[in-house]
Amino acid sequence: MRDARNGSAPTGPTFAEIVDRRLTRRAALAGAAAAVPVMVFGGALAHAPSAAAYIGESIGFSPIALSEEDTVLVPPGYSWKTLIRWGDPLFPEAPALDLDNQSQASQERQFGYNNDFVGFFPLPDYRYPVSDRGLLAVSHEYVNPELMFPAYDGENLTEKQAAVEMAAHGATVIEVFEAAGEWLYSRRSAFNRRITAETAMAVTGPAAGHELLQTTADPTGANVLGTLNNCSGGKTPWGTALLAEENFQDYFGNAGGIDACDPRRAVHERYGLPAASSELGWEKFHDRFDASKEPNEPFRFGWIVEIDPYGPDSTPKKHTALGRFRHEAATVVIAPDGKAVVYSGDDQRFDYMYKFVSSRAYDPHDRAHNLTLLEEGDLYAARFEEGGTGCWLKLAAGEGCLADWSAADVLINTRGAADLLGATPMDRPEDIETNPVTGKLYAVMTNNTERAEGDTDAANPRGPNAFGHIIEITEEADDPTAAAFTWDIFILCGDPEIEEHRAYYAGYDMTKVSPFANPDNVAFDARGNLWIATDGQPERLGKNDGVFAVPTVGAERGYARQFVSAPAGAEICGPEFTPDNRAFFCAMQHPGEGGTIAAPTSTWPDNTSPAKPSLVVVTKAGGSRVIGS
Ligand code: FEO
Ligand code: CA
Ligand code: CA
Repeated sequence: MRDARNGSAPTGPTFAEIVDRRLTRRAALAGAAAAVPVMVFGGALAHAPSAAAYIGESIGFSPIALSEEDTVLVPPGYSWKTLIRWGDPLFPEAPALDLDNQSQASQERQFGYNNDFVGFFPLPDYRYPVSDRGLLAVSHEYVNPELMFPAYDGENLTEKQAAVEMAAHGATVIEVFEAAGEWLYSRRSAFNRRITAETAMAVTGPAAGHELLQTTADPTGANVLGTLNNCSGGKTPWGTALLAEENFQDYFGNAGGIDACDPRRAVHERYGLPAASSELGWEKFHDRFDASKEPNEPFRFGWIVEIDPYGPDSTPKKHTALGRFRHEAATVVIAPDGKAVVYSGDDQRFDYMYKFVSSRAYDPHDRAHNLTLLEEGDLYAARFEEGGTGCWLKLAAGEGCLADWSAADVLINTRGAADLLGATPMDRPEDIETNPVTGKLYAVMTNNTERAEGDTDAANPRGPNAFGHIIEITEEADDPTAAAFTWDIFILCGDPEIEEHRAYYAGYDMTKVSPFANPDNVAFDARGNLWIATDGQPERLGKNDGVFAVPTVGAERGYARQFVSAPAGAEICGPEFTPDNRAFFCAMQHPGEGGTIAAPTSTWPDNTSPAKPSLVVVTKAGGSRVIGS
């Protein structure tokens, strides 16, 4: 729960009024929507070279049904395989996973835990849409120690277990290729890499070196060890991956030990650091995770981290210019004037959506220049108004209600700055992605069960919101740098057959859709269809999580069809296509969560306990056909 609320008293319209209004607008727009023209949208089409040929085509697979089976299910004609799993060796000399003999050294050479973001980077060069060989950048968000260590006892964490856990975080870069219709990964690739909670990183931007980033181990405030809780992420047009540090607060214990008058304590409280022990207990062995001993270390997390998958020896960079919050993901588009725009949600109940606009323009011929684009720019928070309009509030240090704030203050305490400016508290903003065909933005709110019935607004119209929703946003003049936007509710998730869910699927006939709940990470195919991965259906719908494909334009706009069903206990992350859309990657995260090794709730993928977080690749007809065609 957030610690401070802002905004006016609840005066919003009722749910019925909102849906009525949306439906009326939708009817008026229906004819135009069916014939929406293809727009060239900055550099986004660089990722979808043949998009124009496909827009409006329907999705051609038979949807599967919600399931409780402890396996992966895909539609008829499709097949899936486990490409890599937790503990698989990444290098020729790396050991196989040995549950009883885990070590930091071995985990640093193996695929990490709880895979989340997946980004495909073609080989030999990001500029060419090669689809049968590439690098996958995969983030490892968190660990389930009860499913990693036999006889795990959280009250008696050992230093060795903590070291393995730290090595299981971060990211993996792994070369993958398709041969005779089968996807494999290479143990011998020179690109293979592990990034962990102890990998050396540089800090860039206005907050680099600030006194709040200085610690005993790093008096420069510009060299951080590691990255934590890397949730989803993004890809840049210059061939790098952005890792989003999400729930970093969970790793720091004892913030309650900071002097009550110390202003740092209030910031840590706004960001949800626990007053007592952390969730995993690493502070037992490492002072930097004890906020009472190193009160600045938490300020060194909660950033967007840029890694270069093509440079296995490159130093990851934490970009302070993009602000500090629980970054779910980071989606990059190039505006007509060449500026790089990065959208990112702060995944907490009643927190905000943000965008960053670079000061300098992207240069397709100068990668070294592009690698500095995220070091300087302006940061904005979203405000949604009744009636489908909205604006981006500039978090401008030294101006207005931020008159007394420095640039570093704004970036380190981004939430506090957005509080003062009156950004709109959202229902847990997760992924935000741009449709490569239309340029519209789709912002995913996964749920907010703490929103009261009388505390709704037009953009967050259900209280409580157990099932989540998706907002469709159009930047003014289709310019991602615009100060204003219009928006609409695209989908209110839930089961249409249960009236209390109050579901809405873009006005489509709800007797035909595959119901889904708790959208989290999304991806677009080259035709502009939205592919939605969920996190939370076991609790909300009593069925496993899944992937759902939804056209965004044309007669089938809103027609959700289920494409994948996850193993028991898993959420699905990182939906990602190869450039030719003939392979679909998704990350099965935390299968078996809720169980233990001795009392498993899942044995996926190898029919053994523990279940293992694993990356899955889905193909059609042996990889010869486009997914969804
Ligand atoms: Fe890590 Fe917001 O999901
Ligand atoms: Ca997520
Ligand atoms: Ca999630």
